[in-house]
Amino acid sequence: MNLRKCAIIGCGFVGATTAFALTQSGLFSELILIDQNRKKALGEAMDLSHSVPFGKPVEVVAGDYPDLADCALVIITAGAGQAPGETRLDLVHKNVTIFQSIIPQITRYNQECILLVVSNPVDILTYVTLKLSGFPAKRVIGSGTVLDTARLKFLLGAHFEVDPRNVHAFMIGEHGDTELPVYSSANVSGIDFDHFCESCQRRCDQEVLRTIYEEVKNSAYQVIENKGATYYAIALAVLRIVEALMRDEHSVLTVSVLPEGHYELNDLCIGLPAIVGQGGIEKVLDVPLDADERDRLQKSAAQMKKVIGEIRW
Ligand code: NAD
Ligand code: LAC
Repeated sequence: MNLRKCAIIGCGFVGATTAFALTQSGLFSELILIDQNRKKALGEAMDLSHSVPFGKPVEVVAGDYPDLADCALVIITAGAGQAPGETRLDLVHKNVTIFQSIIPQITRYNQECILLVVSNPVDILTYVTLKLSGFPAKRVIGSGTVLDTARLKFLLGAHFEVDPRNVHAFMIGEHGDTELPVYSSANVSGIDFDHFCESCQRRCDQEVLRTIYEEVKNSAYQVIENKGATYYAIALAVLRIVEALMRDEHSVLTVSVLPEGHYELNDLCIGLPAIVGQGGIEKVLDVPLDADERDRLQKSAAQMKKVIGEIRW
């Protein structure tokens, strides 16, 4: 296994932008790009290679599945994206079919890598990848609500007029319409919202927090309505997960994982805070939730179960 070698399957908006972020990171010496549209992969590999003299040394090549044999990490961004007005769950049948063709081709050449799923609906496709690959759950990870958590921090930071990196709050559940914010433990550098708002005298009641949550939930719809797709923020969300994995950071990230009885959830993948390091998922965390958050997480999980039940395997 070559820890300096990574592959991206799917070189559309998300795959190509992620490839760009990874070439800038210096984390890898070899980056393999695969797409069913071979010319697209070739064009992206050429364009990215031409940027190398300005950045970090990395070989970017358009490849094929045998090239995955020694890759430590395979990132999957292949598949249809949402058209304006479509939900992520509307993509399920198209993208499950695509994964049914991709996953066996990966596992034919590599049984040891970590699989990082980004395509939507990401929680369902992470579960599908887990089942089709037969890999241990710690090596099958979805990007989950890492992006949604960034959106929440960005909006809360803007509201409080504070650096979003000092806002500690996260989104969990489906990366989609049933996701939820965990406000019960949210804080700004250790100061809970009630105390922080007292000192800064900004309005921060339940209605404001609900509006911010709605904006997080609808962010992708708004971006897609305006420019057709989302890709910069997800590319950096993926980079953040990849850093945690490849640098063995033991970082807490809200990735899509298989819970093992956490919050009484079983046999699905869903966004939960987990410790991420070189082996993949090290531990899913049991973060305290209040009664309303627990209830909403159960509803989100029930939605995932319903969609899993409709998959044509
Ligand atoms: P896109 O249409 O620009 O790119 C998809 C690419 O997948 C295309 O280049 C296509 O040729 C390729 N592809 C399709 N079938 C393939 C196959 N069988 N093998 C190899 N390649 C194949 O779409 P995009 O905007 O890059 O979005 C990709 C996916 O990422 C979508 O499902 C989108 O919803 C999802 N997405 C997820 C998040 C997240 O937070 N998880 C964020 C943004 C987008
Ligand atoms: C997002 C994608 C579309 O930007 O899932 O949230």
